[in-house]
Amino acid sequence: MEVNLVDNTSRWGVNKDLLLERSKILLDLLDCSSHQVSIVFMDDQDMGEYNLSYRNKNEPTNVLSFPAAEQEIAFPEELTRQELGDVLISLETAQREAIEKKVTLHHRITELIIHGILHLLGYDHECSSQEAEQMWELEQQLFKQIHNTSGRSSMPHLAINVDHVATIRQARGNTEPDPVLAAGICELAGAAGIVVHLREDRRHIQDRDIILLRETIKTKMNLEMAATKDIIDIALDIKPDMITLVPEKRKELTTEGGLDVIDNHKKLKKVIVKMTKAGIPVSIFIDPDAAQIDASLEIGATFVELHTGRYADAKSETEQDNEFRQLEAAAELAFEAGLRVNAGHGLDYQNTARIAALPTVEELSIGHAVISRAVFVGLDQAVREMRDCLAWGTAQHHCCRM
Ligand code: PXP
Repeated sequence: MEVNLVDNTSRWGVNKDLLLERSKILLDLLDCSSHQVSIVFMDDQDMGEYNLSYRNKNEPTNVLSFPAAEQEIAFPEELTRQELGDVLISLETAQREAIEKKVTLHHRITELIIHGILHLLGYDHECSSQEAEQMWELEQQLFKQIHNTSGRSSMPHLAINVDHVATIRQARGNTEPDPVLAAGICELAGAAGIVVHLREDRRHIQDRDIILLRETIKTKMNLEMAATKDIIDIALDIKPDMITLVPEKRKELTTEGGLDVIDNHKKLKKVIVKMTKAGIPVSIFIDPDAAQIDASLEIGATFVELHTGRYADAKSETEQDNEFRQLEAAAELAFEAGLRVNAGHGLDYQNTARIAALPTVEELSIGHAVISRAVFVGLDQAVREMRDCLAWGTAQHHCCRM
């Protein structure tokens, strides 16, 4: 089965991995697992042009289906029986409809994918009211089945925080070990992203590091930072792939607690507006708390990073279970509200698998445990072992669901 998902928009709020997985589940449910389909996301303007050309309607619509069998193909002999066709979806219209129906954007896009693929299979609600009803019922049923089975099947991305490599360098104030070199090794070992925290006191990562990292990181650069003017200016200049806003106190050993988005509502919203203009998605580091999630959504964050510190530091199994349950609920809540969800802080080789098993968590940000282990086994090996923990956690989740 092949689902080709093309995104012709410049939105960041869409979790393509999740939608791809939902589309594959749908094809499976429809007994089309050996078929191919293309799903193309676009904006209203492009959709309007297709709607005008093919349906003579001078307005955008939510979804259009083009069954392969009806398309004019340049080389029909190359058309295999398995090709179902193309489904075009306007994300702008989907977003408006999601707001009207009070559902998440992912919920609405999933409904549109189901609708579009049923059209490819020959269902047509415009034929008769009976067929319209049948199609509607099938759509409802498929949505429920997908929702019960869906969740990330691949493991979450592992983003490695290389601050502590810089901490060792700063202990001597010379040039090694170099976090820039470390980032390259992490990427070669399978890290999907690199995180650095440019602190106001420059205790570890330096300005030179982020300039070089911006040039050399091949995966994704996530700049962790406080919402202060100097650092905001640097971020706008460097243009990382994303930023994560964190609270920062000079005397703390590491980031303590999540950001209070409710208290800092205005200030954070201004930062998000600036970053959005510069094309930089913003994540906010928050405690697993419903009010903080609502506030993050309200100010326009793309991601939240759930603070796993209390879970990681729990002193007993019961305490850890309680903290885990809060993280699980918060991840679900944030995801369903339309936010993309990352998690991190204090994760190590013992406690990470359980967090990696949360199907709505897209990325884990891990630093201290990996850099500590690297002292004994080397950085390449330490990253690979952490990837194994993530893979193991993900596999456990899938076993439990069966
Ligand atoms: N996420 C955030 C927001 C952090 O501040 C840190 C620590 O720099 C981490 C993740 C990584 O935490 P740890 O080093 O404990 O893995």
